[in-house]
Amino acid sequence: MMFPEYRPRRLRRNEQFRSLIRETRMSAGQLIYPLFVQPGRKVREPVGSMPGVFRISVDQLAAEARECQELGLNHLLLFGLPDKKDPVGSGAHAKDGIIQRAIRELKNKVPEMMITTDVCLCEYTSHGHCGILIDKQVDNDATLEILAQAALSHARAGADMVAPSDMMDGRVAEIRQILDENNFERVPIMSYAVKYASAFYGPFRDAAECAPQEGDRQGYQMDPANSREALREATLDMEEGADILMVKPAVAYLDIIRQLRDEFDLPIAAYHVSGEYAMIKAAAAQGWIDEKRVMAETLLSIHRAGADIIITYYAKEMAKLLRNV
Ligand code: PBG
Repeated sequence: MMFPEYRPRRLRRNEQFRSLIRETRMSAGQLIYPLFVQPGRKVREPVGSMPGVFRISVDQLAAEARECQELGLNHLLLFGLPDKKDPVGSGAHAKDGIIQRAIRELKNKVPEMMITTDVCLCEYTSHGHCGILIDKQVDNDATLEILAQAALSHARAGADMVAPSDMMDGRVAEIRQILDENNFERVPIMSYAVKYASAFYGPFRDAAECAPQEGDRQGYQMDPANSREALREATLDMEEGADILMVKPAVAYLDIIRQLRDEFDLPIAAYHVSGEYAMIKAAAAQGWIDEKRVMAETLLSIHRAGADIIITYYAKEMAKLLRNV
């Protein structure tokens, strides 16, 4: 018997049909918008290597959050630049630290906006590493207690979710334990489970002033050559109690996102990082690419690869685009 020739183009002939058979759809509800908070008043300082991204002071946060809300965004990820840095990153868990103040301000003024905080020491240490140094080496176990204190201080200030990005071994368990002991059982952990030692973080390190002064992060971040290791890291974080597993960066690691999606039942997040954002911005500024289309295609591809949640500096732009559709 002869089958009629299959002609997919019948179903592609117009947008109504393309929309009918579309396999992946994005919505503003799956996006998380990162914000950099810095000391001072009325500060809105552009980040040179990330056009469209600003470091803002605490008093500017509520207005920013309301603008996001109007676009349909429900989630912010906060990064803090402290007044002072020291070798042990005390600013990370100070009761009146920059992030703690930022969370309180947002929870007071825009309570429905969900606040996730970055839990790491690199923005708070004078040497720029993600942990405590002993003999110039990051000491994993000495760092865990401080990270746990930071996460607890965020929860106390009102954070809805914490996102440890330091890559110390055992931090998810440590953070889960301290949160539970203090009645924050309902605060989930979005773990940067699979974080590569990547050159794509360059512009972020400008924004957060957190480039390591000596050495690099290869001791605790993953080798881009490895994918089986990604599964091991994710398994550990899941066993320690992570609620969401994150892959970072996103575009250069779509295969890793897909592998995690296939192996795990937990929600998967992907961080479309600063360098990935900056490259689109730079090419668009030259007039070499169509920024909106490249942005939309990039974020859609991250979603199609298997990420339920996307953290991106393009969240506002993407939310605007989704509105028009
Ligand atoms: C560490 C942290 C970094 C990023 C998010 N959390 C920097 C790093 O690991 O060096 C990078 C995010 C980006 O590049 O957009 N606190």
